[in-house]
Amino acid sequence: MKILGITHSCYSWNNAACLLIDGKLVAFAEEERFIRKKHAPRIGACQATKYCLEYAGLSMKDLDYIAVGFDDKYHAINQSIDFNNHEIKQKTPRLKSFEWNQPFDFYDPRVINVNHHIAHISSSFYLSGFKESNIISLDKAGESESGLIGYGNGLNLDIFHRINHQESWGCLYEEITNLLGFKGHSQEGKTMGLSSYGKPCLEKFNFIDWNAKPIPKIDYEKKKKFLATIKKRNCFDKITQKHKDLAATVQFVLEKAGLKIVKYLYNQTGSRNLCLSGGVALNCAMNGILLKSKYVHDIYIQPASNDTGSALGAAVYVHVKKTNKSPDFIFDHVYWGPEFNNQEIEKAIGKYKINKYHFSNNIFKETAEKIAQNKIIGWFQGRMEVGPRALGNRSILANPSLVKIKDMINSIKKRESWRPFAPSILEEYASKYVKDYYKSPFMILAFDIKPNKIKDLLATVHVDNTVRLQTVNKKNNLKYWKLISEFKKITGIPALLNTSYNLADEPIICSPKDALKTFYDSSMDYLAIGDYLIEK
Ligand SMILES: [Fe+2]
Repeated sequence: MKILGITHSCYSWNNAACLLIDGKLVAFAEEERFIRKKHAPRIGACQATKYCLEYAGLSMKDLDYIAVGFDDKYHAINQSIDFNNHEIKQKTPRLKSFEWNQPFDFYDPRVINVNHHIAHISSSFYLSGFKESNIISLDKAGESESGLIGYGNGLNLDIFHRINHQESWGCLYEEITNLLGFKGHSQEGKTMGLSSYGKPCLEKFNFIDWNAKPIPKIDYEKKKKFLATIKKRNCFDKITQKHKDLAATVQFVLEKAGLKIVKYLYNQTGSRNLCLSGGVALNCAMNGILLKSKYVHDIYIQPASNDTGSALGAAVYVHVKKTNKSPDFIFDHVYWGPEFNNQEIEKAIGKYKINKYHFSNNIFKETAEKIAQNKIIGWFQGRMEVGPRALGNRSILANPSLVKIKDMINSIKKRESWRPFAPSILEEYASKYVKDYYKSPFMILAFDIKPNKIKDLLATVHVDNTVRLQTVNKKNNLKYWKLISEFKKITGIPALLNTSYNLADEPIICSPKDALKTFYDSSMDYLAIGDYLIEK
């Protein structure tokens, strides 16, 4: 059974497509990577769909189902994908506001709309490897809801509670982020980073009923009044202690709400497994706190937890419903995008008339030596990652023990100085570095670092002595594992600083062309692309 999963709403960001064949994932990528526009706001997942189909050598007519990660009646999918003609064409790159509310009928009977939050939880629970688990999906909003909580057991999803749009925890976090002057979409990571510098003041957030049943509830009207009292920071203004405290408060509130929810679920089900999804699940500080709680023993977090993941979840949900079987894989890595071989890479190098490069007989050793010499490296290998984190295939890498490297990369990426970087660490050494270690392949969990290991990872340790680890193993990324192993041979450190290969306000790179352009637009020192090493 061939199922195309898409996030393709007229009001969604992070539109994406994936292809599931007989319960196995074949390809999965975000539209933004192909059209080179961050988050692809309200842009149909046409290029991502094209990539998925071409990767499998299929066309639209070969598909059995088209699973959509939204279930609104006003969906504008047919405005950009012409199913009747079995071809993909982008008619409206950006839907105009007057078009958003135009209802229409799906004329292709293969299209199945899946409730947005059911799609989110399907992307975590069914792909977690857990037989049963508590499940939470939280985002800003999807259709009329901003989340749901429940319990998954085998193929069944038992939904206990739906959180409506007005009570949205994701929306509250976004509103505070906007008031802090962080402009643009998906800037919540900045608020999370800043929160470690402030002190929470819970009394101010008196619009939350912590004793509401079954879970804490935001009073929409009271919240509106409170937010109106806060003076919005201009993005160029200095960040004061007041701003830091506000960030700390919203972070604290989110963690407290998360803890109450997992306690409620544990009391309902007795399960200490937890599956998380939805944009809020990208909050690695909250995730770390939940994992530490006595109500959670095992956790699975969908790494493409923003609306990208609802494409995958929709496809998986349709597979479950149509076959009465679980999908045939665990989503334990994110490498589902396009890849390029050495011939394609050399062609791109030739096209741009680059002279200072050579074919390396051991790209891992040579690159590790450069990183050990404190050079900043672009690393382009294998299939592109899906989801907001670069996890070792489209990454900028550096020596994690060199504290000044932070400023150097911040200036390359035009990032704020308070935002932490993250380390990729060989899985076999991770427990030596952090307290309460738990496998963390997606850089989506924050851990307390052991004091004696701070010096090794100095550039990646946050002000509160936490690190958001990515653990790397041979099975899921052999090339990256080899590179870090070579770096360990030279320095004794089994880790690298890893940040996504993109410049400010740009999506993560996809192709050799993107890699070369970004390399020459920045002050990176070397680019290791396939087996070629390019020197600036
Ligand atoms: Fe969502």
